[in-house]
Amino acid sequence: MSETTLAASAALMEREHAVVFQTYRRIPVAIERAEGARIIDVDGRSYLDMLGGIAVNALGHSHPRIISAIEQQITRYMHVSNVFYQEPQVALAEQLVKASGYPRVFFTNSGAESTDGALKLARRYGSARGRYDVIGFTGGFHGRTYGALSLMDKPLYKDGMGPFLPNTLVLPFNDVDALESRVDENTCAVMIEFLQGEGGIQSATQEFVDALFALKETYGFLIIADEVQSGIGRTGDFFSFEAYGVRPDIVTVAKAMGGGLPLGAILATEEAAALLDKGMHGTTYGGNPVACVAGSVVVDEVCSGLMDHVQNIGVYLYEQLQVLMTEFPEQIREIRGRGCMQGVVLNTDAAPYVQDLLRNGVIANATAGNVIRLVPPFVITNDDVDELLRALRTVMSVQRG
Ligand SMILES: Cc1ncc(COP(=O)(O)O)c(C=O)c1O
Repeated sequence: MSETTLAASAALMEREHAVVFQTYRRIPVAIERAEGARIIDVDGRSYLDMLGGIAVNALGHSHPRIISAIEQQITRYMHVSNVFYQEPQVALAEQLVKASGYPRVFFTNSGAESTDGALKLARRYGSARGRYDVIGFTGGFHGRTYGALSLMDKPLYKDGMGPFLPNTLVLPFNDVDALESRVDENTCAVMIEFLQGEGGIQSATQEFVDALFALKETYGFLIIADEVQSGIGRTGDFFSFEAYGVRPDIVTVAKAMGGGLPLGAILATEEAAALLDKGMHGTTYGGNPVACVAGSVVVDEVCSGLMDHVQNIGVYLYEQLQVLMTEFPEQIREIRGRGCMQGVVLNTDAAPYVQDLLRNGVIANATAGNVIRLVPPFVITNDDVDELLRALRTVMSVQRG
């Protein structure tokens, strides 16, 4: 690659630095195009994408079925508003009901919007009963709105932005004693990521989940599962909570569902959905028909074989990462997660490793300080995993020094 062509990336980055809020710690790659599990930058370099748009591009980039569905929809209509009945919304809602077993769907544009809508549902439930406390857990991530932030603990996201919503609190994740001592008849709802993504691919323990559902039996609060990152088949189950044999009252989804377009949803029981009557909640763009036809392709693919592939490739990835851990025991502490949501937990800061991975042609990111997060498209192959492992071996050796 000549110096002159490499300049295309640098030029775009410089323009961005000049005019855009500097809120993102961007990966220094300027995108030209993307296909399958590959990203090509404006200077022609190719990368294996193990980040998948941060757990979004479930079918990979530029999936032909998604492109075709979008093309057909945009020639009919792109937006008409939620005052109308629209086939793409109804069709996707029917698919979600069938796949999830939850009978009601409310469409949103994003994960955070799903979080806040679910919170409003919870407060409606609580205010009818005179109970208002909503609980989140340390390490949880629910989005950047005030509702979401109120249930999160990380100072970086909250410093100087308060006050937050009243009657919200954040308890230590996986701490049964703290849960039992704080949850009571004033608890209106608990929001939980059964498999935390931003929190470092950290699973709830079965003991903690059992304690939570036992408390629900006693006190009758709502349990909201945040499946924005872990849902729609990413773990090899449609929802990550299925591994625990439990059934929350409300489920939030987004990310993978839109296949790359902004789309989220709240899934709920009939009783919970009935808490929001006409006019009480809404959104201009939520359930956009173009996003919904893309979502229909994703859910269809996930439910007709792709979830089995996620299970198989997840096992292969996990086994290969375990081998890597035995080769580099002084650097790798643990391999966590399942399916297409796994983390390589290091004994040290993961950022330099992620930067080195990029130099070796692999895109991933660091989360929770010491975790290399792998949330690739569901369509990755054994060859892709092998390529990742070659890059990881190189990086581990370089970092070992
Ligand atoms: C578990 C979880 N919930 C909610 C969100 C917020 O989603 P969005 O960024 O679409 O608002 C995220 C985003 O990373 C997430 O991982």
